[in-house]
Amino acid sequence: MQTITSIKNSKSKTPLVMITAYDALFSSLFDKKVDIILVGDSLNMSFNLKKDTLSATMDTMIYHTKAVCAGAKDTLIVCDMPFGAYTDEKMALKNASRVYQETNAQAVKIEGGEKRAHIIKTLTVNSIAVMGHIGLMPQFVRSEGGYKVRGKSKEDIEQLIKDAKAVEEAGAFCIVIEGVIAEAAKEISQSINIPTIGIGAGADTDGQVLVWSDAFGFFNGFKPKFVKQYMEGSKLIENALDDYIKEVRSRTFPAKEHTY
Ligand code: KIV
Repeated sequence: MQTITSIKNSKSKTPLVMITAYDALFSSLFDKKVDIILVGDSLNMSFNLKKDTLSATMDTMIYHTKAVCAGAKDTLIVCDMPFGAYTDEKMALKNASRVYQETNAQAVKIEGGEKRAHIIKTLTVNSIAVMGHIGLMPQFVRSEGGYKVRGKSKEDIEQLIKDAKAVEEAGAFCIVIEGVIAEAAKEISQSINIPTIGIGAGADTDGQVLVWSDAFGFFNGFKPKFVKQYMEGSKLIENALDDYIKEVRSRTFPAKEHTY
């Protein structure tokens, strides 16, 4: 099982595999296979079908993190800190402490670069492991008027490198880079010593993360360019459900072998 230290030491090694999970059933399928399970606030969209991640609360994240921990006892688990849960150091420490006290997650994730480094520092000096998250940050979707791919200009790349360095300096053990032009993500990754985990950030980060329902074709709201669907989950479920409905209505289920 990976630890915070082993992840920190995995810069430029075999790419890290992170996937999201929101419940014990799915986390038990991913347990011992992936390096990290992220209980992302993406659950607000892919699990609750809300239009963005902003209405997820600490209580919601704690509830789902407990479930994920129950299903995956041998995988490093990270709990996403939701929007509004870390607006100042005191609030961040109180809420991140809840994650350690009420769940078995090993770390929290915080969106924000240079401007949030003081928050990350407060957590890490108080023994809470932090995964950073820079680039396209979904918690900024309303204030920025949409999801904007980053790293398109020299100035933006310079800012992203500053963000990555500040997050590293504040003590984060790794950083998610989301929605960044591949060449820029490579440059950002090379500018720091902790591993980077990309999503929509090309192939040159130290690992990749996907939201499970995107990766397995269960989320049909929209499909961003960076998503690869490894199976057509919703189609498989629909077909199986149709078979079940047909068999119940035609009395072919239950058959003898399903009957006491
Ligand atoms: O909430 C989430 O699932 C995330 C990943 C997309 C990195 O933040």
